[in-house]
Amino acid sequence: MSDKSHLNGKFNNILVSEIENPKGLKVGLIQLNRPDALNALNIDLMKEVVETLESFDKDADTGCMVLTGNAKAFAAGADIKEMADATAIEMLLRDQFARWDRIRKIKKPVIAAVSGFALGGGCELAMTCDMIIAAKSAKFGQPEINLAVIPGAGGTQRLTKAVGKARAMEMILTGKMFTADEMFEAGLVTRVVENEIYLDEAVELAKEISSKPTIAVQLAKECILKSFDSTIEAGLEFERKNFYLLFATEDKFEGMKAFVEKRKADWKGR
Ligand code: CAA
Repeated sequence: MSDKSHLNGKFNNILVSEIENPKGLKVGLIQLNRPDALNALNIDLMKEVVETLESFDKDADTGCMVLTGNAKAFAAGADIKEMADATAIEMLLRDQFARWDRIRKIKKPVIAAVSGFALGGGCELAMTCDMIIAAKSAKFGQPEINLAVIPGAGGTQRLTKAVGKARAMEMILTGKMFTADEMFEAGLVTRVVENEIYLDEAVELAKEISSKPTIAVQLAKECILKSFDSTIEAGLEFERKNFYLLFATEDKFEGMKAFVEKRKADWKGR
């Protein structure tokens, strides 16, 4: 179950690998690989991404995933050529963005490592991830307005939650691109780093998270995401139940015992 190299033969639009982690569980790496189209997100590519995320999510040897593109583009949006002739009813029947909902169900953290263009669906894909590490060169934008459409894979919702109404309105209504530093200040990006090291930084962060007790990491992620669609009352209740639930894990007893005994904890992931 742990070797994913066989998947590379199966997929045409992404590269998949696993990164060993001396500190803990492995990191699953997914690289979008349509460089000639600036990694435009066609239907097949998104099928491959979602299927691979789900496969890593089920793999007990993997702690965290990193999703990346290349230096020039994380992804320049949904594939415009695939949509250019489509009618409303064809789009409705295709319902291609429904597949993206499955990314929301991924339990393990997913980190986007973004360099170059993250536009339209590319920006939206980065936002479905739990954190964004951006190279200085990264450019974020929702340019759909220039095609006479609007973001269709979560942009109006996730961008607004991340950067607030004022900046989201400006981005979506003008279609302008914003720099990594601007998006860091706005709260979309976790960290901005030099161009050469954005992927290494993302992988290091993923390794660090993969060294933490797995069930606590997953429940923490679930609680944070819950805050986006619940009242504070319901969210606090959800958090508390999950906090108590963690007292059923072996790792909780090990973690607290190790603290008291002044030694390093030996996590079991259960
Ligand atoms: N879909 C399909 N093909 C795309 C693409 C896209 N989103 N973005 C770039 N490409 C293709 C180009 O057509 C070109 O292909 P050819 O060589 O066959 O002509 C190739 O990638 C390289 O692109 P450019 O020559 O345009 O590269 P550039 O460096 O001059 O410009 C860019 C880069 C500013 C990002 C420009 O490519 C661009 O504006 N792309 C479109 C961005 C966009 O509008 N994205 C939103 C798409 S709609 C959407 O995403 C809906 C949603 O909410 C899900």
